[in-house]
Amino acid sequence: MRVGVLTGGGDCPGLNAVIRAVVRRGVKEYGYEFVGFRDGWRGPLEGDSVPLGVDQVRGILPRGGTILKSSRTNPFKVDGGVEKITSNLAASDVDALIAIGGEDTLGVATRLADLGVNVVGVPKTIDNDLSGTDFTFGFDTAVNIAMEAIDRLHTTAESHHRALVVEVMGRHAGWIALHAGIAGGANVVLIPEKPFDIDDVCAHVESRFRTNFSPIIVVSEGAVPVAGGDMTLQSGELDAFGHVRLGGIGDFLAKQIEERTGKEARAVVLGHVQRGGTPTAFDRWLATRFGLQAVAAVRDGDFGTMVALRGTDIVRVPLIEGTGELKTVQPEQYAEAEVFFG
Ligand code: F6P
Repeated sequence: MRVGVLTGGGDCPGLNAVIRAVVRRGVKEYGYEFVGFRDGWRGPLEGDSVPLGVDQVRGILPRGGTILKSSRTNPFKVDGGVEKITSNLAASDVDALIAIGGEDTLGVATRLADLGVNVVGVPKTIDNDLSGTDFTFGFDTAVNIAMEAIDRLHTTAESHHRALVVEVMGRHAGWIALHAGIAGGANVVLIPEKPFDIDDVCAHVESRFRTNFSPIIVVSEGAVPVAGGDMTLQSGELDAFGHVRLGGIGDFLAKQIEERTGKEARAVVLGHVQRGGTPTAFDRWLATRFGLQAVAAVRDGDFGTMVALRGTDIVRVPLIEGTGELKTVQPEQYAEAEVFFG
C-alpha cells in the first residue's frame, strides 16, 4: 500500500506531529510506503510530491508549520481538476490519501470521496470550528498564545490607564476569543456569533475603569456591530474558497471606545502569531493520536471518514459530519464569559 499525505489551508501547530504519527505507524506496523504531496491540493493536482519516510519525519514533533507546506488551492476551481488528481494519484501508485485540513481542505476531501477517491481526513484548525470533533488540534496552542498576550496586556494597560483591545483570529466562530478571554480574564469578549452593541461595550469599559483596573477587550476578527453590521475587511478579494481577508475590527473598536468614553484605547492584532511556533502538549497529544488513527482507518479501508475526538476517545465519523456545518459558539457558552464582563 502506498499512501499520500497532504496538509492544506491555513497552517497550525501540530501538523508535523500528525505526519510523523501517520508515517511511523504506517511503516512500522503496516509496512506501508508514503509520499508527501506539497502545498495542499496543489500537490496531487500538479503531481508535485516528495519522499516521505521515517527519516523525513524524525525530529519534527515539536516543530510548528508543516514540512509538506500548504496552500488554499481548490481543485474544483481548476478545469479538469478532479481528473488531474485521479490520474496523478494513479501515476504515482498512490492507493489512498490522508488529507489534513480544515473546512475547505476537508470539504474538497468530502467531494473527492463521493467521487470514489480513497481518502481519510484529519481535522485541523486553530479556529476549532469543525463539527464532529470536540476539538481540532492547533486550537489549544492558539488559545495559550492569546492568553499569554492578554496576561501581558493587563499589566501594561493598568500602568497607563488605557483600554486595550486584542483582536484574535476567528472568522465565523469565536472559540479562540471565548477560551482565551475566559482564561485571560478579559472584561469583554466579542464573537462573530453575537453582534455587539458598542454602547454596552463602552459601559463595561467605564465600569472597569471605576474599579481602578484597566479593561481588556478580546474581539474575534469576524465580530460585527449590531448597527451597520458588516465584517471589517482588510481586502475584499476572494481566495479560491470564496473567503475575504478579515482584519481591522480591533482598531475600529479602539477608536469608538476613545471617542465615546474619552479614555485612551489601543488595539493589538495577534494575527499569525497564533498559528506559528511549537504546539502545546495537548496539541501534540491530539495530533499524534489523530495521525495514528487516520492510518488505521486507511488499513481498515474506512474511506470517506474523518478522525475525531469524542471525550478522550478518537473515533471515525463520515467526512460530511465534520464539514457539513461549522461548529459555532452557543449562547449558553457565551453567557459563561458574560458573567465577567465589566
Ligand atoms: O482558518 C484559520 C484562519 O486562521 C482564520 O481564523 C483566518 O481568518 C484565516 O485563517 C487567515 O488566513 P490567511 O493566513 O490565509 O490570511
